[in-house]
Amino acid sequence: MTADLFDDLPVLGPAHELIAPGAVLLRGFARELDAALLQALDDVIAQAPLRHLVTPGGYTMSVAMSNCGPLGWVSDRSGYRYDALDPRSGRPWPAMPACWMDLAVRAAAQAGFAQFRPDACLINLYEPGAKLSLHQDKDEKDFSAPIVSVSLGLPAVFLFGTSHRSDRPRRHWLSHGDVVVWGGPARLAYHGVAPLADGEHALLGRRRINLTFRQAG
Ligand code: SIN
Ligand code: FE2
Repeated sequence: MTADLFDDLPVLGPAHELIAPGAVLLRGFARELDAALLQALDDVIAQAPLRHLVTPGGYTMSVAMSNCGPLGWVSDRSGYRYDALDPRSGRPWPAMPACWMDLAVRAAAQAGFAQFRPDACLINLYEPGAKLSLHQDKDEKDFSAPIVSVSLGLPAVFLFGTSHRSDRPRRHWLSHGDVVVWGGPARLAYHGVAPLADGEHALLGRRRINLTFRQAG
């Protein structure tokens, strides 16, 4: 009996790693969809090109960003906000591709957030050396919804701490196809990405793409 049970385990799905209370790393969850996800990425960034935003403090971010879905996250000298329009074109952000939405909803459900319906997806492009300083995702209206983060391309070190900035974050390698979902007690955890090491990925070359799904409005 016990042997049969173990034989069945792999069909239960990808490995779940609890990286903090409320934060789950789903190893390889997006991997089998990578070609479709990247095809849709080309369509989205043809309509809303990746660009380096300026922080309220006047720094140009090393990560290049764009968005899709009803709302997009933007930063400029006046602050951070969600906006229905791409400030570069004055037009709405591209629609969220169906395969992206479906992946985000399934990942959230796997992590225990069955109600998650994202209305914003931030696209982050990292080239070697690009990094994201420790921050909280707190521009969303309702913190009861989780954040779903999909990693593609070159691997990166993801820093994940607690809701106290002074707590030292733990380091987690995120590889192509990995998905992290954080909500509940982890929703306001400080997180960031260490400077991207150079490398060559079969599908994305010298790039890492991160898709971050939020319920923002
Ligand atoms: C983010 O915090 O918006 C991005 C995290 C990542 O690139 O893994
Ligand atoms: Fe973030």
